[in-house]
Amino acid sequence: MSSKVRQVNSKKTDQFKESVIREMTQFAIKHKAVNLGQGVPDFPCPPALKEAAVKAILDDINQYPITFGDKLLRQTLTEKYSAALGFSIDPETEITVTCGTTEALMASILALVDPGEEIIVFEPYYENYFPQTVLAETVVRGVSLTAPRWQFDPDELRQAFSDKTRAIIVNTPHNPTGRVFTTAELTMIAELCQKWGVFMITDEIYEHILYDGARHIHPASLPDMRDLTITITGLSKTYSLTGWRIGWTIANQEITTAIRKVHDFLTIAAPAPLQRAAVQGINLPTSFYLDLAQQYAAKRQYMMETLDKVGMPYNLPEGAYYIFSDVSKYNFVSDIDFAKQLLEKVGVATIPGSTFFSSKSRQANSFVRFCFSRRQETLEAARERLWQAKF
Ligand SMILES: Cc1ncc(COP(=O)(O)O)c(C=O)c1O
Repeated sequence: MSSKVRQVNSKKTDQFKESVIREMTQFAIKHKAVNLGQGVPDFPCPPALKEAAVKAILDDINQYPITFGDKLLRQTLTEKYSAALGFSIDPETEITVTCGTTEALMASILALVDPGEEIIVFEPYYENYFPQTVLAETVVRGVSLTAPRWQFDPDELRQAFSDKTRAIIVNTPHNPTGRVFTTAELTMIAELCQKWGVFMITDEIYEHILYDGARHIHPASLPDMRDLTITITGLSKTYSLTGWRIGWTIANQEITTAIRKVHDFLTIAAPAPLQRAAVQGINLPTSFYLDLAQQYAAKRQYMMETLDKVGMPYNLPEGAYYIFSDVSKYNFVSDIDFAKQLLEKVGVATIPGSTFFSSKSRQANSFVRFCFSRRQETLEAARERLWQAKF
C-alpha cells in the first residue's frame, strides 16, 4: 500500500468492531458446534413464499422497482397496518420499503437526527444500534433495563431526555431479553417524547412472536404518537426470511419524505421480485400467525427445560426467540470467556451478552444469549451436549 495512504479506517469505523454475532457463527462452523448464536432460523420459510418469489422472477419483476416500494406491497401493508395502528395510512406518502429493518433504522436515523444530537437507547440493545448511531455521528444515551425483570427506572428515563435528544429507539418485543413493553411503559416513553418533541423510532421485528398471552402494543397506536413515531418492522423474523432483506417504515408524510431521500441514495430499493412475493406473506391468514406463536412457544419451552436442568437462570421471555441467561455464578473471567469455553469444550455456540451492552454497563459481563429459532433436532443436539457438560 502506498505510504501516502493515511490509516485505512475512517474515524467512524474505528469506533466499532465487526459484528460479534457473525464472528460467533464463523467459530461455530469451525468447531462444528451446535449453533444457538445468530438470530436466524435454521428451518425453511413457508412454501407459499418460495413459490411467490419464483413466480415474481418468472413474471419479469426483475428491474428497479419504484424506489420507495412495490405498489402492491405498499397497498397490502397499508391494509394490515391501518388496522393494527388504528388510523388510515396512505401507501403513496407514508410507507417506505427498505432493505430490511436494518436499513429502515439507518435511513430513519440519517434522515431525522443531526450529528451531535442524542438518541436514547435501552440497554441491553440489539448490536446494530451502536454502529448505526456512530455512522450518523449522533450520540447514544443509554438507559438501563435491569436484570432480572429487564425493566427501566422511570427516573433514569426522565433524566435521559433533554434539549439535545432527538430520538429514542424502542425495540419491543426485545432482543436479547425477550421483554415485551407494557402499555404503561410505552405510554411513559410516549409522554416524554411529546414533552420534549422527540421521535420514537420503533423496532418491531418480533411483533408476531409472543408468549403466554402477551400483547404487542404498536407505539404509533398510542394517543398523539402518530406524528412522532417511525414504525419499523419487516419480513425477517415473522416469515423466517432473514435473507430476503425486506423491511419497511411507516411514518407521516413529512418524515417519510425525509426517509425516502436517504433510502434512495443508500440502496435505491429493496429487491423487486422479493417485494412482490412478500405480498403473499403479509396476506397469510390469521392461523399462520397463531401457528407461528405456538411453534415458538414449544421451542421456548424445550430450551427452558434444557437450561433449567443445567441450572442456568434466566428471566422468562415474553416475546422474540432468545433466552438471555445469567452465567455469572460460573465464575469465568468474562461472558466472552464463558461463551468461548461453551463453544470449544461443550460444542454449543451462543452470543456473549456484552455484545448488547456499552462497555460502561455493570451488567455487561454476566449473560449469554441462546437463540431457539431452530429445528427440533438442533435443539435436541444442544440439549444433549449441555446436559453432558460439567459446569
Ligand atoms: C432487534 C432486531 N432488529 C433488527 C434486526 C435485523 O432485522 P432485518 O433482518 O429486518 O434487517 C434483528 C435481527 O436479529 C433484530 O434482532
